[in-house]
Order: sequence, then C-alpha cells, then structure tokens
Amino acid sequence: MNYLEALSRRYSVKKFNKEIIPQETLHNILESGKLSASSLGLQPYKIIVVESEEMKQKLIPAFYNPSQISTCSHLVVIISKKIIEENYIRGYFNHISEVREIPLETLDLFKNSINQHISQKTGDEIFNWAEKQSYIVLANLMYAAAIENIDTCPMEGFRQDVIEDILNINPETEKVTVTLALGYRSEEDHFQHMKKVRKPNEKLFKFI
Ligand SMILES: Cc1cc2nc3c(=O)[nH]c(=O)nc-3n(C[C@H](O)[C@H](O)[C@H](O)COP(=O)(O)O)c2cc1C
Repeated sequence: MNYLEALSRRYSVKKFNKEIIPQETLHNILESGKLSASSLGLQPYKIIVVESEEMKQKLIPAFYNPSQISTCSHLVVIISKKIIEENYIRGYFNHISEVREIPLETLDLFKNSINQHISQKTGDEIFNWAEKQSYIVLANLMYAAAIENIDTCPMEGFRQDVIEDILNINPETEKVTVTLALGYRSEEDHFQHMKKVRKPNEKLFKFI
C-alpha cells in the first residue's frame, strides 16, 4: 500500500473490534514516535502505552466518548513537560555525549545556547512549545500505523483531571496533551464508509 492509499484508508475510528495488535507491529509504530523530530532535540514529552485490560477499563470514565477505549487494542497517552529543568538539559547532553562518544565539553556551545533559549521563555511559552512537539509524535504514530494497516483514533476529548489522576501525572510539571487509540476497525463502525471532508486544494494551498 502506498502512503496516499494508507492515508486515504485511515479515518478516526469510533469503534474497534477488540483484536490485539501483534507486539512487533506495535513496537515498530512506537519506534516511529520515538524517531520524531523535536525542537532542539529535547523530546519534552513521555509516552504511556496502556495495554492492560484493567487499566483501559479504569480509563473509560476519563473519556467523553469511551467507545474507542473499551474496544481498542492499545491506548497511547502523550504527556508534555510543563517545565524544562536545568537538570533535564544536563541529562540530554550527557546522553548525546554517551551515544555519539564525544567529550561533554565539545557540546558546551550548543548547551549554553539551549539554556539561554529556554531561560528566555515564560512558563506558558515553554509549555506551548512542548505541547507542539507532542503533536509531531502523534502525527508520526498515526502515519506509521496507517502504513502498518493499523487503525487509530486521536483523542483530546478527555477529562484532564480524571485521566491525570488515574495515570499519576503531577499537574504541576506535566500535562496529558493527547491520546491515540490503536486497533482494528469494527465492521459495525459506519464512519469507515463516510467520504472524507477536506478543503478543496484552492482553499488549502497557495502556490507563490
Ligand atoms: C488532535 C486531535 C484530537 C481529536 N480528538 C478526538 C476525540 O476526542 N474524539 C474523536 O472521536 N475524534 C477526535 N479527533 C478526530 C477528528 O474528529 C477527525 O480527525 C476529523 O474529524 C477528520 O476525520 P478523519 O480523521 O476520520 O479523517 C481528533 C483529531 C485530532 C487530530
């Protein structure tokens, strides 16, 4: 299947058929999320993968439309950082030095520029910036899933305090930004037969 076919087949599933995604396929989809680009490479997010039936059941009351949660194979929860601590940046540079096998000092210039960049932003700006990075992960996961013939539904329709309470998220430092249900579409989900509604090209694109 080429990518346009995969993206045309993709739709936001309202009801899955409860079948479980094979581990290897799930792993590959998650790897595509891991390989996402992020501003300054800081990956200001973490990703919870809900696979246990028990946890899915627990999360049902957190969603306004729970039919996806009760029928999906896995639920991915993307959590954005609200604060970028100096310690976090230090950890990032230690990691670069380790992975690329280069002395830490050679990264000083880059490290100082990142520290300066981050310190100039207000708390709200940091958080808005961090949330945007999470949506790049979301898009990559959805894209990879479509290519793997795995169905998805991105969801922001949840009760913030309820989901964060269940997942033990500290709202002072983190926020659940968006979730993605994965699985296989149910034959009963009539949304799969609906035509896609998208702006016509002349309204969407401007060639200059
Ligand atoms: C960030 C984001 C959040 C969304 N939240 C929900 C949601 O909470 N519940 C839902 O059923 N669909 C949700 N959707 C799906 C959109 O309604 C859907 O993508 C749009 O109507 C286009 O339809 P399609 O994805 O089937 O092509 C969300 C989509 C995005 C990108």
